[in-house]
Amino acid sequence: MEFVTLNNGVQMPMLGYGVYQVTQEECEKCVLDALDVGYRSIDTAQSYFNEVQVGNAIHKSGVARRDIFLTTKVWIEHYGYEQAKASVLESMEKLQTDYLDLCLLHQPFSDYYGAYRALEDLQSEGKIRAIGISNFYADRMIDIASFARSVPQVNQVETHPFNQQTEAKKYMDKYGVQIEAWAPFGEGRGDMFTNPVIAEIGSKYGKTVAQTILRWHIQKGVVVIPKSTHRERMAENFNVFDFSLTDEDIAAINALDKAESSFFSHNDPAMVEWFVKMVEERKHQHDSSKEKKNW
Ligand SMILES: NC(=O)c1ccc[n+]([C@@H]2O[C@H](COP(=O)([O-])OP(=O)(O)OC[C@H]3O[C@@H](n4cnc5c(N)ncnc54)[C@H](OP(=O)(O)O)[C@@H]3O)[C@@H](O)[C@H]2O)c1
Repeated sequence: MEFVTLNNGVQMPMLGYGVYQVTQEECEKCVLDALDVGYRSIDTAQSYFNEVQVGNAIHKSGVARRDIFLTTKVWIEHYGYEQAKASVLESMEKLQTDYLDLCLLHQPFSDYYGAYRALEDLQSEGKIRAIGISNFYADRMIDIASFARSVPQVNQVETHPFNQQTEAKKYMDKYGVQIEAWAPFGEGRGDMFTNPVIAEIGSKYGKTVAQTILRWHIQKGVVVIPKSTHRERMAENFNVFDFSLTDEDIAAINALDKAESSFFSHNDPAMVEWFVKMVEERKHQHDSSKEKKNW
């Protein structure tokens, strides 16, 4: 495994396993498989509704907690100082841990300054080793990096060959914020897994498109957290530390950049309204599930 040292000295694995869209039914087995394959970094979130299953898997795996880099993210409905703090403690309970390695603010909406102050205080109390943000485009990232008490350690944003975040990464580098790719394969959109340019580069090394993409990210200093529910793909995605791409290979993949999201823009007013609606719906779900105490 390769590691990166974050701006507060914490070491983070360059490759982890993400559990977005991994259902509660399959999540425990998937995380157990991932840990067995060798992953030691797991990325979940309050809004994935699978923190309990991630916690169960870690507990059952026999892997020491200190050997796992565990990330979760605070959802918008829990923003504001008090609610964010309480929600992180609840996440830790679900994850069966007394500390988090990384805790991110999931989206740049609502009272994220209040929520960030909660993360800063939890970090000072030793409950979170590294804190950060997600989906903060360069303007929001510069804002919080400049006006908050501390500069975020990580910014997790959509990053893959068709949306490389070249400009945004320049600003992250300038402020000492580590870039972490969500959807490192763009979830396969745009026929990513059969892209002929990437396939040809990979074939020189006996590597698949997926492996070539992950290696490209890692060599560019981008932390990756690919998701798969298939154990053989988890193993494939983990097996990327025995080859190196040349500068020419990297330039050829760089040339695939469309510099636009394969999903949606967080700056689109219609999308912001969609988030607002989702928060209302999830707040309702969250309240009723808390009432039932069914986790
Ligand atoms: N912060 C955020 O807002 C945010 C947003 C999205 C994601 N994330 C995080 O980033 C993680 C990764 O992103 P993602 O899950 O959206 O997308 P992704 O990792 O780019 O792609 C996952 C898709 O690729 C397939 N896949 C994985 N490995 C493969 C391989 N070797 N060959 C062929 N297909 C393969 C998976 O299918 P199977 O599962 O069927 O194998 C799945 O459909 C998430 O799990 C989550 O932790 C964060």
